[in-house]
Amino acid sequence: MNALVTGSGGLLGHALLRVLRRSGFRAEAMEHRDLDVARRDAVHRAVRSAAPDVVFHCAAYTAVDRAESEPEKVFAVNERGAANVAAAAAAADALIVYPSTDYVFSGDSAVPYRPGDATAPCNVYGKSKLAGEIAVRRSGARHLIARTSWLFGAGGRNFVDTMLARAGRGERVRIVDDQTGRPTWTEELARALAELACAGREGVHHVACAGRATWCELAQEALRLGGVTATVDPVGTEEFGAAAPRPRWSVLDISATEALLRRPMPNWRHALAAYLAEKEQAERGGAGP
Ligand SMILES: NC(=O)c1ccc[n+]([C@@H]2O[C@H](COP(=O)([O-])OP(=O)(O)OC[C@H]3O[C@@H](n4cnc5c(N)ncnc54)[C@H](OP(=O)(O)O)[C@@H]3O)[C@@H](O)[C@H]2O)c1
Repeated sequence: MNALVTGSGGLLGHALLRVLRRSGFRAEAMEHRDLDVARRDAVHRAVRSAAPDVVFHCAAYTAVDRAESEPEKVFAVNERGAANVAAAAAAADALIVYPSTDYVFSGDSAVPYRPGDATAPCNVYGKSKLAGEIAVRRSGARHLIARTSWLFGAGGRNFVDTMLARAGRGERVRIVDDQTGRPTWTEELARALAELACAGREGVHHVACAGRATWCELAQEALRLGGVTATVDPVGTEEFGAAAPRPRWSVLDISATEALLRRPMPNWRHALAAYLAEKEQAERGGAGP
């Protein structure tokens, strides 16, 4: 199978390339410097020339707090970029896999969100990703919208690495303890996306690791597994004072995806342990995972 990965220099793109190549896909990588998804003609040329069976559209504007002050830029990438890639996929008769986010939900629920539940994003990033979902659905392309959450993994900036680095420097860390979600290892997400795409699945799916945590619990577990002693100060969302509002509860219901995959998704604690073991091995070997 031929795959094209946009935004391949990012966190998920990095994992997808590894997983796809290991699974026998021919995967063409397009980093931001190779292809700006906001440029419609360039996108059409790139997709036409790669002639993919599936496009994994990982390019996105993901700086959630900065997004509040530059909505034009965010929508140019997350809505119009997605529309460009989906239109090009439709013209090439390729499946588009569009990773979306738990931040399309309001966070007012107390039970895990199912794919058909009402969306109501509370920040610019979430609104732009939802606009991207709508653009993909309207494009006429065969599409698989995969909402995921709280990614960590090799190859890009992420919360787990940031916490370990800050605690390792002896910094005291303040972490939000009243937002709950499903932390997810990019490797497990990439594996699931490759399987779903291979099986030709379409529609909206929730793909995340099992279990749930607050950001504070995730940090504490990362520090424990990493053997780093640090003072963690749990704080509330208001006290933390991030620029973007965030859902208090964004646990995705992954049961339908697990049924399609015919296996449970791993618990985030196991996934985190596996990621940190792999990271340590790679650092000892002197190469990135
Ligand atoms: N990270 C999470 O916790 C999370 C949670 C839920 C959903 N998601 C979704 O998962 C997908 C992958 O996210 P990620 O964590 O891998 O993000 P990431 O690490 O920020 O990667 C995104 C990539 O897109 C590139 N990019 C930005 N603007 C672009 C443009 N105009 N044209 C082409 N490439 C562009 C970035 O390049 P530059 O850095 O050079 O700009 C970066 O390499 C996104 O759709 C995101 O919304 C992520």
